[in-house]
Parts: sequence; C-alpha cells; structure tokens
Amino acid sequence: MMQDWFLDAKLGIFIHHGIYAVDGIDESWAFFNGKVSYEDYMAQLDGFTASKYDPDAWADLFKRAGARYAVLTTKHHDGVALWDTKANDLSVVKKTPAGRDLITPYVDALRKNDLRVGFYFSQLDWSHPDYATLRPERHKDDPDESLNRFAYARKGKEDPARWENFLRFHRAQLKELCTEFGKVDLLWFDGDWERDERQFKMKELRDELHFMQPEVVINSRMLGYGDYATPEQGQPVVAPDGPWEFCVTINDSWGYQVQDKNHKSTRQIVRMCAECFGLGGNVLLDIGPYEDGSLQPEQTERLEGLGRWMNKHADAIYGTVAGLPAGLFYGPSTQSKDGKELNLFFFDRPIDQVVTRGIKGKVKRVSVVGSGRELAHRRIGSADWCEVPGNLYIDFPADEVDQDCTVVKVEFEESFSTSLSPGRS
Ligand code: GLC
Repeated sequence: MMQDWFLDAKLGIFIHHGIYAVDGIDESWAFFNGKVSYEDYMAQLDGFTASKYDPDAWADLFKRAGARYAVLTTKHHDGVALWDTKANDLSVVKKTPAGRDLITPYVDALRKNDLRVGFYFSQLDWSHPDYATLRPERHKDDPDESLNRFAYARKGKEDPARWENFLRFHRAQLKELCTEFGKVDLLWFDGDWERDERQFKMKELRDELHFMQPEVVINSRMLGYGDYATPEQGQPVVAPDGPWEFCVTINDSWGYQVQDKNHKSTRQIVRMCAECFGLGGNVLLDIGPYEDGSLQPEQTERLEGLGRWMNKHADAIYGTVAGLPAGLFYGPSTQSKDGKELNLFFFDRPIDQVVTRGIKGKVKRVSVVGSGRELAHRRIGSADWCEVPGNLYIDFPADEVDQDCTVVKVEFEESFSTSLSPGRS
C-alpha cells in the first residue's frame, strides 16, 4: 500500500552488493548473457569477504546524502542470498568467506539512523534447479535456441510440479525476509518478466506480503500488483502516471565494475534529482560497493556532494509535490501540499531577473532557500483589479547563486493557482 512517508521521502539509496563485485562483472547477467561461464561466475563466491562491511557507516553517509530510505539487494538474479536463508544453501552465509548474515546489521543501522528499510528481491532465480521449468504463454512455441536456458524450460520439458516447488521456495524466502528482520518498509521486486502473473500467482503473493507486513510499500515489478512505477536509467521527461521512483546508477553499472569510471558529476546528479522532484517523483540512486563492503570513493564523494545541496534546500524538497506545468517557468519547481509555497530551481546564472508566468495569487514573500535572503519582486502585465496573472519578476542577485542549483521560494497569502491561457481573447 502506498504510504505518505514514501511520497515525502524523495531520495533513496539503492545498493547492489553481491558476489559480482569480486571480479567486478555484470551482476548476474554476466553468466546469463554468456560473458562468463556459470562456474566462473559462481567461483566468485570464494572471494566474497564482506571484510569491511560497515552498514553503520553506510547509513550515516546515506543520511548525510539526504536520503530517507535505502534498498539493498537481498538476492539478485544469481540467487545468492545475503541472509541465512533456510530455503536453500545458496547464501553468503553458507557459501562465502563472509560467513554471516548481512541483512540484520543493515536493518539495524538504517533504523538507528531513522532511515526506512527497503529490500530488493529478484522474483526470478537463475540458480534454482526448479526455476527454468516453465514458459509463459507468449513463449509457448518459441524454438529452444531463442530462449535462455537459465530462464525457460526446453520445448516439451515444462514441468508444472517442479515450478510449484520453486514457488514454495520463493514464498519461503519472502516469508523469511518479511518475518525475521522486523518491519520492512519497502519491498523492491525485480525480475518479474520471465513468467505470467498467473504462473507467479502475484495477487496471492501480494496478499501474503500484506498479511506479514501490512504497511509495506511494493514497487511495480509485480506484474500489475505493485504500488508505484519504477522507470529505470532513462530519466522521465514527463511524469509517469501515479507515484513513481526513478532508479539510476551513479556510473553506468548497478554493481561495482572494474572498468566503469563513468561517474556522473555531483551537479548532474543534483539536476536529475531536482527534475524528478519537480515532476513529483522520487530518485533511487544506486551505489555498487566493493566485495569487502567498502564504497567506491567516487560514489561516496557524489553522495556527500548531493547531501550538501539536499540539506541546504530541504525545505523545498521533502514533503513537496510536483510543481508548475511546463511553460510557466523554465526549470523544475515543487510546491507545498497546501499550495502556498512554490519552489523554483535554477541551474543557470540569471542575467538579473527571473520570471514565472500564468500564476495567480498574492505574493507574500520571495526568498532564497538556504540563506533566507529576501528578494525583490514585481508583477508586470497585471493589476490588483484584473483577472490576468501577468508575469512575476524576481530579482536574483549573483552572489546568491548555489554551486549546483539555486532554489527560490515564493510564498503566497493563499494557495496559488495557475492559468495556461490567461486573459480574454
Ligand atoms: C534491471 C536488471 C538488474 C538491476 C535492476 C535495477 O532490472 O535486471 O540487474 O538490478 O535493473 O533496477
């Protein structure tokens, strides 16, 4: 069920932590796509130490970054669980030198820091022997060669009884996650695309999840049974329908990858965030720790930089809703839920004044978020006695420009309204 905390939170941190960081290769996809053999991929189990695993330090950093929640890969498509699952043996507890449950300390650290707890969980499991035992309707007659052997049964070899085994295993793991770690605020599913809703029995699953965790928010990768949309990597230009969260990597990879140094700059990340907040969405910003659990320094630096900006402008971010429609202001904006405050985000250095159009409402005060400095403003093309909103001009002093993105707050006497075609024709 959607919860207010999620809509107000705006920023979460996504963590792809798994054995794929040992060799620094694609998380799970490396063997699925044949870049390495399954055996070589699984040999990474021997190198996964989590020797510097310090979720308290993570949580502290996430908090400083301005995040209100985090989502950790409890199990990626490779099937390797980060907790001591009793449903099979494939966990970092039983199969790696790390030798311990990584989920409990993560949950404790988040709770201590007032961060909401999210679990990523892959519905599909390319390691489970009973997983590739079906085909969904749309692949019924496809030739074997076109269907990946980790995902689908060979022709004529479908085995519904073994699939039922898989479902029992799948449910058992989710039951562990939902009952052994206290309250779970967010279940972030992935990998729902290889089966039909009917095969996964998603509606039944959702009911079970709500029974165990009545307040849990569930993302969309539930074949129609989730609470919000998860556009991935491609930043939405217009807001998706309903609540949403943009998940995105800092460089080009979800997990740690040796060769990937293509980290976005802090300024690019700030901009992306501001643009999503302005459309009413959240951002789930991903980091990929090394196998020992420590973080890539470039990613720590980005989170700290983002945090400087988020904290300074907290008042224009948390608890706000989508701002002005396109055309009224040339940039993103957010507004308070009561519509009495409008926050304007600027990425450029204005020549002297900035302007909004089509906004009706008596302005009480205009100020710079962070410094609080009041700014002079005036309307042109309107008057007290007329209906047309005119254009609101705001003076913008050069010495108030923020290094990443300046935010100006306009306070109104009453809730403002907007008009796209003001005036008589
Ligand atoms: C994709 C990929 C996966 C990644 C996820 C994050 O669905 O399958 O590797 O974890 O995106 O959103």
